[in-house]
Amino acid sequence: MTLVLGIESSCDETGAAVVAGDGRVLSDVVRSQVELHAPFGGVVPEIAARDHLRAIVPVVDQALRDAQLSLADVDAIAVTQRPGLVGALLVGVQAGKGLAWALDKPLVAVDHLIGHLLSVFLMRPTAAAPAPLSDRRGPDCAARPAFPFIGLLVSGGHSALYRCDGPLASHIRELGATRDDAVGEAFDKIAKLLGLGYPGGPVIDRLAALGNPDDAPLALPMPMARKGSLELSFSGLKSAIARHVLAEGPPQSDADLANLCAAFQRSATTTLVKKAMAAAKAEGVGRVVVAGGVAANRELRARMAEACTARGYELFVPPFASCTDNAAMIAYAGAVKLQHGSLASLDIGPLTRTELPRVTRKGRGMR
Ligand code: KG4
Ligand code: ZN
Repeated sequence: MTLVLGIESSCDETGAAVVAGDGRVLSDVVRSQVELHAPFGGVVPEIAARDHLRAIVPVVDQALRDAQLSLADVDAIAVTQRPGLVGALLVGVQAGKGLAWALDKPLVAVDHLIGHLLSVFLMRPTAAAPAPLSDRRGPDCAARPAFPFIGLLVSGGHSALYRCDGPLASHIRELGATRDDAVGEAFDKIAKLLGLGYPGGPVIDRLAALGNPDDAPLALPMPMARKGSLELSFSGLKSAIARHVLAEGPPQSDADLANLCAAFQRSATTTLVKKAMAAAKAEGVGRVVVAGGVAANRELRARMAEACTARGYELFVPPFASCTDNAAMIAYAGAVKLQHGSLASLDIGPLTRTELPRVTRKGRGMR
């Protein structure tokens, strides 16, 4: 069985993982920088790069220890090459190249977005302690979609819909993406505006469950609701709340705050569900995968499940550890590329843009 060491450093998580070619996760170490960025209400690129530099060697060591393997046991090194913060990516890319060169093993360059879209294929162990290689199928191993599927990728940096006919970039087609903010970014910015800290997703998720969207102090727009396209937009929603807070001040009571969070979350998730269902219908594909950090959102999960059940579609949502940034998804996407003979040379560098062709241009709309 091929074993791949994956390295992830595109944003604010330093990750290393060992994954078998069939998707079994032997180890998955994530060191989050969230506390370093929290005072700023968002990721500070220079701080991110410097912390990756501090963390990368211990995180790789830990991933090997957790898998009870040594570097000599791995067959290839997979590293996130793109997209992301260039200084942050550089740390992982250089570490990956250094290891591949020193060990004389193949290097695979992975697109982070493809990693997210394939994260649904990871099979995680049920217990924290490593089990024998033959016994590492997690409870989610049955819930692996066949191709083609519609992938809704929702994270802090990206929000887009894809048709996935296979696991390689050439099989994946963007159907529409956000014109402005990513949905996770909207969660984070609104949380910052409301003084709820960073990251905003989990806290808004929690508060929204306590509120009633119909009692919110303002009516929020449904982003791009009337538009027939599969494009998304979240900046209008954010601006509506920002204008309200500027004019009226922040919510005065816990109930008002919860109601506002509930209204925002309903608006954002309604749009995502509507667009994902429209994509499935337009493409004639009855399988939907939701990936990325915002896939952890309880209302999104519940509403997607409801909408898919109503239409007879199958829904696949990876467990939380696979949704947020991790190196296991990078190792797996690398293993797939390795199987297809797609190797990187040792002169690669980080790239800020995805290799997936985009149909939506930021700030402008469809090409
Ligand atoms: O995938 P991820 O870890 O990193 C990126 O590639 O961006 O996603 C992080 C994003 C953050 O914006 C965070 O606020 C959001 O995912 N998030 C959530 C929830 N948990 C994390 N958003 C909504 N509801 C949640 N429960
Ligand atoms: Zn990500």
